Amino acid sequence: MRSRTQVGIIGAGPAGLLLQHMLARHGVDSVLVENRSREYCEKRQRAGVLEHGTVELLKEIGLGDRMVAEGLTHSGIYLQFAGERHHLDFPSLTGGRTLTVYAQTEVVKDAIAVGHPIHFEVTDTAVRDIDTERPVLSFTDAGGVAHEVECDAIAGCDGFYGVSRPAMPALRVSERTYPFAWLGILATVPPSTDELIYAHSASGFAMHSMRSPEVSRLYIQVDPDEKIEDWPDERIWEQLQLRLGHPGWTLHEGPIAEKGITPMRSFVAEPMRSGRLFLAGDAAHIVPPTGAKGLNLAVADVKVLADALVRLLVEGKADLADAYSQTCLTRVWRSTWFSWYMTSMLHRFPADSFTSAAEAEFQERLQIAQLRQVTSSDAAARDLAENYAGWPLP
Ligand code: FAD
Ligand code: DHB
Repeated sequence: MRSRTQVGIIGAGPAGLLLQHMLARHGVDSVLVENRSREYCEKRQRAGVLEHGTVELLKEIGLGDRMVAEGLTHSGIYLQFAGERHHLDFPSLTGGRTLTVYAQTEVVKDAIAVGHPIHFEVTDTAVRDIDTERPVLSFTDAGGVAHEVECDAIAGCDGFYGVSRPAMPALRVSERTYPFAWLGILATVPPSTDELIYAHSASGFAMHSMRSPEVSRLYIQVDPDEKIEDWPDERIWEQLQLRLGHPGWTLHEGPIAEKGITPMRSFVAEPMRSGRLFLAGDAAHIVPPTGAKGLNLAVADVKVLADALVRLLVEGKADLADAYSQTCLTRVWRSTWFSWYMTSMLHRFPADSFTSAAEAEFQERLQIAQLRQVTSSDAAARDLAENYAGWPLP
């Protein structure tokens, strides 16, 4: 079946869904295709921390009501190391910026609920003719009907394993794979902390986050080749107790509703545009999760992209579209640096990362020195807080 739209969007993650909504607000129509089911997209556990700028954008585009009612406002984080726990107060360090804990699943549910047209459970997604002014998005819908959609532009919001990035020629790729992964759990137990705890420990990194006053989200660093089957609930809690433990503080345990292991990598593909195909979010870049930048970066990309496509398709001006990649990449590299910095400062590197035990010791002493600096120097604390709380959206 042949049809026509202004923007073809691939992927119903936060990037694709928010782009579709922002375009619709300016009268730009789109077709969004997603290869998973709606239920899968709404349940997939991922990020949970929204930057100030993301929160303001969601409110501005009319998707903020439930977030305002149910999101948890946080004014900082705890950093724990060498038996000490320190609080960084973001509003005083950043001129008033806070964070909101509101799960990615909820952002996705709120955007899908608006009711823009989405084809779930498609197969055979492909793009062609991206170097022309009429690129084509093709797919087979859930009922088995093959579609060819002629577009003015296509947005590849299809995550790291999508089809959009491989369809682009001559990308410059920068990459780093980390020698560890995160094991994350969702536990049905009230959080044991008022704000997120990032803990450096001799047994490896651990973090305490949350989803609601009733549900905790916790992570531990594990080897990248670990199998989730080898991590029964008792072993996970034992490691969490060991790594997060602090005198006078109790970590409350509860039933584990979900668990999974995520590998960690940094990845940037440049440029983020080729002809009329634009990449956004994880399709173009991945950051390790320490510092909670992935989702926020995807949102920043599609804000820039929505403005560029409205300008191109409504006003007939290509300036913002031409600047799209460079505008995004400045923030992408800043987030890439920050996520690498937080990851390197807080994780235990395996012995085979070093040539000797003394070299491993040296690295650990540097980490502690850096943590001492960010918890004792106002300037260093401000730098971390400004990066964590995020920069204003373009
Ligand atoms: P995605 O959310 O990946 O959405 C892409 C969509 O495209 C998916 O729905 C996918 O099914 C769809 N798709 C793919 N291929 C096709 C195709 N061929 N046709 C149609 N549709 C397709 N960030 C944090 O800040 N903190 C975290 O704790 C955290 N945990 C994470 C855990 C995991 C397992 C992963 C993968 C990421 C995590 N992230 C985390 C990162 C954050 O969730 C992502 O940065 C964010 O989801 C990016 O949004 P996106 O819309 O660009 O991509
Ligand atoms: C969460 C994830 C992160 O990567 C992070 O740095 C903080 C919180 C979370 O899932 O809640």
